[in-house]
Amino acid sequence: MRLQGKIAVLTGACGGIGQAIVDKLVKEGACVLAADLSEAGLADLHDTHGDAVATRLTDVTDYRDVQAMIAAAVEAFGRLDIMINNAGIAQPKPLIEHDPERDFDGVTAVNQKGVYHGIVAAAQQFRSQSSGGVILNTSSVYAKMASEMTFSYNVSKAAVDMMTKCAALELAPLGVRVCAIAPGRVDTPMLRQYEALGLWDHIHKEQMRRTLTSPSEIADIVAFLVSDDANCINGSTIDAADGFESFKFPLLP
Ligand SMILES: NC(=O)c1ccc[n+]([C@@H]2O[C@H](COP(=O)([O-])OP(=O)(O)OC[C@H]3O[C@@H](n4cnc5c(N)ncnc54)[C@H](O)[C@@H]3O)[C@@H](O)[C@H]2O)c1
Repeated sequence: MRLQGKIAVLTGACGGIGQAIVDKLVKEGACVLAADLSEAGLADLHDTHGDAVATRLTDVTDYRDVQAMIAAAVEAFGRLDIMINNAGIAQPKPLIEHDPERDFDGVTAVNQKGVYHGIVAAAQQFRSQSSGGVILNTSSVYAKMASEMTFSYNVSKAAVDMMTKCAALELAPLGVRVCAIAPGRVDTPMLRQYEALGLWDHIHKEQMRRTLTSPSEIADIVAFLVSDDANCINGSTIDAADGFESFKFPLLP
């Protein structure tokens, strides 16, 4: 077990990718403080995993709440080793239809500022422990690609990549490593929004292998990235997009 005895905090723990990360970290021997907006989802996680998982209702847009989330992990398990900033939202909508407060500020508050909050609060905890630590941020393949209807999402994920680099540099003297994962298309409630938009078949056709990534495939890579096996991966965003970023939708059937 790669993460035996490690203590992790995970935001967005009740979503598709988040639940898979909780499963994987617990299998690898970690204890997890699962944080999310969903009270019912958190209760399910605790029922499934028992004492290996503590929970805290947390809104990552609120810095005091994020600080309290870290304090809850320390209270439950004694310290912090791994911070995973995974909470995110996507609200697909054409740019021309934007209401800036909802469609830019709203997405930025969760995807960008929420990650920033997690980085700062975790770094302060690592410093107080004099322990080092690992921070893993969930980016996206869309950090580097333009796409329709996801203006604020792509901008926020580009910010996640830069925050990952800058935080790695500034926190290195504390022995803290920071990296990010960039999934492509993962079958979760977030992606299922495109089903409602009538784009589900199209999304499959755009995949090199015509299949979506499963949440557990992302969780496997997350577990590697937060483990000592990935010790020399620092400041980097690791693509886990099944080739999406290097693939053009073919003309041939
Ligand atoms: N699904 C994909 O195809 C895909 C691709 C690339 C990147 N990602 C990223 O992966 C991460 C997880 O996405 P997912 O696909 O599991 O989505 P999801 O919608 O299934 O889960 C997201 C979770 O985040 C929680 N959340 C939302 N706002 C929050 C807030 N303010 N505070 C705390 N929790 C909050 C939600 O309650 C939900 O449980 C996101 O950062 C997303 O951008 C997803």
